[in-house]
Formats: sequence, structure tokens, C-alpha cells
Amino acid sequence: MSFKGRHVVSIRDFSRKDIEQILSRANKLLPIAKGEKASDILRNKIMATLFFEPSTRTRLSFESAMLRMGGRTLGFSDPGGTSAKKGETLADTIRMAAAYSDVIVLRHPQEGAAKLASEFSDVPVINAGDGAGQHPTQTLLDLFTIKKEVGKIDGKNIALVGDLKYGRTVHSLAYALSTFKAKLTFVAPPTLQMPEEMVATVKEMGTKPKLVNRIEDVIKTADVIYVTRIQKERFPDPDEYKKVARVYRITPAMLKGAKETMRIMHPLPRVKEISPEVDEMKHAAYFKQAFYGVPTRMALLSAVLGVNS
Ligand code: NCD
Repeated sequence: MSFKGRHVVSIRDFSRKDIEQILSRANKLLPIAKGEKASDILRNKIMATLFFEPSTRTRLSFESAMLRMGGRTLGFSDPGGTSAKKGETLADTIRMAAAYSDVIVLRHPQEGAAKLASEFSDVPVINAGDGAGQHPTQTLLDLFTIKKEVGKIDGKNIALVGDLKYGRTVHSLAYALSTFKAKLTFVAPPTLQMPEEMVATVKEMGTKPKLVNRIEDVIKTADVIYVTRIQKERFPDPDEYKKVARVYRITPAMLKGAKETMRIMHPLPRVKEISPEVDEMKHAAYFKQAFYGVPTRMALLSAVLGVNS
């Protein structure tokens, strides 16, 4: 199926074949993403970044992707300076951004915001995170990282660790990993486990996820340990956050017995979940993972804009 003009709201919008196509294109674009080769295939194209929530990697890597392909960007990273402050609806803001650009990248605190935006936009809307909902482009770069770092996704033991309740990256990733037939373990304190609806969905897809609460249970068998931040901003009750704030912290000592080839990933930002001493270990893949946001987003942007040369 052609990507031209498509909205990217959920990872469920992509078949396995679609994902493989994007990842293989991302691989070809690597020299341009690194700045070793020049490209202007997106000249005359404008990307609008509408960020109603904080972001470092997602927004900057989307911008870098656009600029590396000769396109231009406009947008905001703080809605405080926009008419949202005066009470403008998201629908109207989207209509305006669609009039001023060729593709919209939206991050919003409300689950379902990207879906709503897509209904009011004549240009493709890419979901860069909607509350505790989905984060499909993070999943594309996560899958790219697993392919590059571990070799393949099929049949690999992948542990998703941390805040599986509110973390949108793991909601999208668990679904995609199931389409790749990875073996999943969900590691979380009982109050932050993967939502039942997600567990049911991956089971219907043929995955038999293990649900555990001790990280020690996965160290020896995992090919990938995907660590996430406890999503403080999404807790209705700050006391509930305090109870789980420091449940997991990966240290070099804990990793004794891990496979040589095991890789630790994290969508970042990390708070305390991974001690900085782990950064020097061969297992640490999270900074490379963040860079891989550039080639995967280049592949996606050029695909939805219908420019494939
Ligand atoms: C994540 C997000 O915004 O969902 N960050 C990212 O996009 N790399 C993870 C997080 O905020 O914990």
C-alpha cells in the first residue's frame, strides 16, 4: 500500500510489510541522516511541529530529518505562546497548520488527539505521542534499533520494563513486536502493568506474554531489555507516584549473567532507571537508538509526502 498522504495515528495503521518497507528505506538513508551525503528530495516541503507537551528527541529528530532532506520546518514547542491559550480548539489549530504546511507532527497530552486531528487535516498528521495512548514513530525507531543491534526481531526475547500502564511507547511497541512474533515479557509493579486490553490484543495475535514484577527474572534470558520512565505527569495522585517512583534501577552489578549480545534500550528521557555507569557497557544501546530517530523519521516523512527517490 502506498504511504502517500496517509495519516500515522497508531502503529496498528501499519502492516508488517509496511514496517519492513520503512525500515529498509531508513537503512538506505543512513548516510544522509549522518550528514555524510547531501539530499534535497524534500525541497519546497514544509513540516509543522505542534508540540503541546515537552519533547527533546522526538521534535529535534523530526526537524533534523526534514532539514537533512532539504525541507523546512515551522511550529511550536510550547502551546503557551499560541491561540490555544485563548481557547482555540485543537480542530481549528490543525486546520490552520494544514493550510501552512505539507505534513503535521503532533504531540498532545490527550489520548485520541492525533486521531481527532487527522479528521480535520488535509495533510498527513503524524502522531508524536498522544497522552498515554500511542507513539508509533518511536516504535519504528525502536524496531530499527533492534534490527541493527540484535540482528532480527522474530523469536527474540524482549522484556518491556517499567511503567507499562501510562507509557505510550510500550503500548505501540508491544503491538508491533507481536506482529514480528517476538517473545514478550512485561516487567512492572502490579499497579503499572500493561493494560488488560493490550494484553488481550497481543494474545489474540498469538503472543503469550509473561507478566512478572522482578527485573531479575529476565536478565539471563533477554535479548533486549526495554526500560521506561515512570510517567510522573500522568498519575492522578502524586502519592501513588511516590510509591513506585524508584522501583527499578539497572546497575552494572545487576547485569552479571546477561547474554553478551543483550541490549538495553530506553526511549529516553531516563530519570533514575539506568545508572550512568551502564552507559559505558556494550549492552547500552539507548543513545544509538535516539540517533536512529533521524533515519526512520526521514523514511516516514518522505513516504507520506510521496517522495521516494
Ligand atoms: C517518550 C514519550 O514522550 O513518550 N519519549 C520519547 O518520545 N522519546 C518517553 C517518556 O517520556 O518517558
